[in-house]
Amino acid sequence: MGIPSLNQNIPQRYDVADTDLASIDGVLSTTRSVRLRLDFDRHVDNETILDCIDLAEQGPGGGNQSSRRWLVIRDPKVKTKLAELYYQSAGQWMVSARDKLAGTDHRNKSVMNSAAHLAENIQNVPALVIPCIWGRHDDSKKPGLFDSVLQSAWSFCLAARARGLATAWTTAILTAEDEMREILDIPMGVTPVAMLPLAYSKGTAFNSLPKRRAAEVTYYDSWGRTWENRDDESPRNLSEGPGAICEIEIDAPPEIVWKFVSDINISAEHSEEFQGAEWASGYTKPELGAKFIGTNKHKHIGEWQTTSTITEFEDNVLFGWAVGDNEETAGARWRWEIDELHGKRTRLRHTLRLGPGASGLTPAIESMPDKEELIISRRQEEHLSNMRKCLSAIKVAAES
Ligand SMILES: Cc1cc2nc3c(=O)[nH]c(=O)nc-3n(C[C@H](O)[C@H](O)[C@H](O)COP(=O)(O)O)c2cc1C
Repeated sequence: MGIPSLNQNIPQRYDVADTDLASIDGVLSTTRSVRLRLDFDRHVDNETILDCIDLAEQGPGGGNQSSRRWLVIRDPKVKTKLAELYYQSAGQWMVSARDKLAGTDHRNKSVMNSAAHLAENIQNVPALVIPCIWGRHDDSKKPGLFDSVLQSAWSFCLAARARGLATAWTTAILTAEDEMREILDIPMGVTPVAMLPLAYSKGTAFNSLPKRRAAEVTYYDSWGRTWENRDDESPRNLSEGPGAICEIEIDAPPEIVWKFVSDINISAEHSEEFQGAEWASGYTKPELGAKFIGTNKHKHIGEWQTTSTITEFEDNVLFGWAVGDNEETAGARWRWEIDELHGKRTRLRHTLRLGPGASGLTPAIESMPDKEELIISRRQEEHLSNMRKCLSAIKVAAES
């Protein structure tokens, strides 16, 4: 990557114009929690570890103070003590979860297989690296200090990956922080934030993972306002795919929440605009391709009806529809998504994307093209307000 040899006490100048961006993006997108492909037999020298720490120390720190400390565990006896503690804290549970999920097609099967492998072998890694910070999160009143360590710890993982090493971000052992402190003699005013098993990886090629696209998790200018493909140069317009996202966490399992969101009339009780829906002729229930007719009312537009088509459907997980016949010509696209959180809780997510086809907005924009940005912004606001009311009501109903 063209990084000069490291002695970070001598300031070095690095021009990003000389950067091979593809290599950097490659490291950023493939630094994974590696467990099954850790090479326990290949030695990792201290110089390489210190190079990674030197790079990590370039991370920002609150108050520009040097408050991070790094524990590198090499002694097999100390590693074994930590391995035992890790096993008691969570490893045991990971191993029994792996055994329970073996042979099933549960979505956590492979992560549990990998987590259990680490839990059974953590004492065999060449080094365990524990990033620490002076300060306590709860009582230091200095969150700036505490929060100055995570970015550096991640830089350490990236620097390691760039050198053919692998890490796994683990925190399970922190539930036994007191015992960990005792084993490692960590003073009370210092907080360990993770334990990073470090080893060369078996093979250096790793895949990036499918994650939510940036446009789905990025809000512009205020919470919940999205743009599919926003061009910053021109005034905002409909072709840039404006939208809205509303989320809420609910103390109820996905099956309960699903009962509400798979009901095409659920929003009618809470939205000031949506009046209700009925199945189009030939359709009786939510399934891919089913159509329903919705009635809407707005103080400036009056009353109108739309026919929608279900375009995404997975029981207890996903329900999406296009206002119109398909996604390509839809006036708007709506989606409910249910994420299961630990402990049978749920995060419910409601998404609206306006366009790409014509909708009620189109005539308003056509008659006042100079007000397109304002019209879109007001529409996002109206939708967000109705979506929020609906989500809050679903939360109350599902939790009771
Ligand atoms: C805050 C945090 C704590 C974690 N703790 C553990 C842990 O104790 N043990 C473990 O095996 N993995 C742990 N992980 C790793 C995740 O399970 C891991 O990110 C997940 O397996 C996805 O893999 P990826 O990093 O390749 O995307 C942790 C991750 C984070 C962000």
